[in-house]
Amino acid sequence: MPPSVIRLEGVSKSFWPGPVKAVTDVSLEVRSGEILTLLGPSGCGKTTTLRLIAGFEAPDQGAIFVCGDRVAGRRAWVPPERRGVGMVFQDYALFPHLTVGENVMFGLDRFPRKDRRERAQEVLRTLDLKPLFDRYPHELSGGQQQRVALARAIAPEPVVVLMDEPFSNLDAHLRDQVRDEVVRILRKADVTCILVSHDQRDALAVSDRVAVMNQGRVEQVGTPREIYKHPESVFVATFVGRTNLLQGVVQNEDGCVLTDFGSFCRVNRLGMPNGTPVMISVRPDGFTACREAEGVLHGTIRSATYTGSQVEAEVAIPSADGGMRKLVVHLPPSRAYHIGEEISFRLLPEFASVVRNACDTLGFSSPVAATVAAEKGGGAHSSQRSSHPSSASV
Ligand SMILES: Nc1ncnc2c1ncn2[C@@H]1O[C@H](COP(=O)(O)OP(=O)(O)O)[C@@H](O)[C@H]1O
Ligand SMILES: [Mg+2]
Repeated sequence: MPPSVIRLEGVSKSFWPGPVKAVTDVSLEVRSGEILTLLGPSGCGKTTTLRLIAGFEAPDQGAIFVCGDRVAGRRAWVPPERRGVGMVFQDYALFPHLTVGENVMFGLDRFPRKDRRERAQEVLRTLDLKPLFDRYPHELSGGQQQRVALARAIAPEPVVVLMDEPFSNLDAHLRDQVRDEVVRILRKADVTCILVSHDQRDALAVSDRVAVMNQGRVEQVGTPREIYKHPESVFVATFVGRTNLLQGVVQNEDGCVLTDFGSFCRVNRLGMPNGTPVMISVRPDGFTACREAEGVLHGTIRSATYTGSQVEAEVAIPSADGGMRKLVVHLPPSRAYHIGEEISFRLLPEFASVVRNACDTLGFSSPVAATVAAEKGGGAHSSQRSSHPSSASV
């Protein structure tokens, strides 16, 4: 495993007056060459976490290590300029009165004076910016300013580059292109990077791992796939894309959960004991349309939005209590769907996951007690076009 570059151990930070708890008990590790994104809504503590790592803030509790050396916590303190950390600010913060070359040379005081120009040129060449060496920041496009800020950050060969919302100031049409370019540069230079973003698309697209933050805490750390497919909390499930939250009960030790919509197996990754009322998150991708005879769920399309790569449909499905439940389902875009059309599905367990503390978060006391009792009593649903296939396993 690559060595750890940045490690946070139980880091907390409050601001006064208040106190405003900006960061609470955050533990994180970033390994050499890794791109990790801190993802979360505005105000959840992302920038404060970056500033703590950079040394612009000191933690109230916990410790921060850079390449194994304690730089903050337990009376240790290494100032920002001696941490070997490069920072790209949200507004780029280029010096307007300095040229591109001078901006990049600015942080190179560790290099002998005679080598600074060459180092700046070398980095600007890597980023395809060398022709802009003598230009001023106001003569550059947003995307170019972004890359100059990145060049300035990586020129001193930092052990890690911290980038705060690097893509948020770019026009929508430039955004994906600049994002892919920045990631290509980071990968090519083998730079370890912590990015901050409130945009789940960016986070999933560029990161090796994502740390999802909510109200100052890290709720889950995982690869983009893990975070998307197997969210462990209601917050992660709902913040990172759309999802369906279904009430259920853990059915057996194999990790199956019985819901109104059938039994989902291999989804109890949190190891909840048999009989526990739980919620599962099922992504819209967790259903696959099929012929009626093969389907375990049958419903009626209530809305259908074509996005190019898929159709996002809301499907009304009769529930065990005689009401209707709406599911959000991704359908293949190869054909058109009509409002009122009947459709059948099968379930894909890989997009389903038990979420932690959902009953507390969503205010359910005992989510499926009634459903389970009805199942056992045997008479709560009709077998014809049933949406409630207690025996259907996936
Ligand atoms: N210097 C500060 N003084 C007081 N409160 C602050 C300061 N910096 C951040 N905060 C507060 O801390 C919380 C987290 O802020 P921040 O880390 O900037 O969040 P994010 O970057 O995720 O939007 C917010 O409530 C914010 O208002
Ligand atoms: Mg911020």
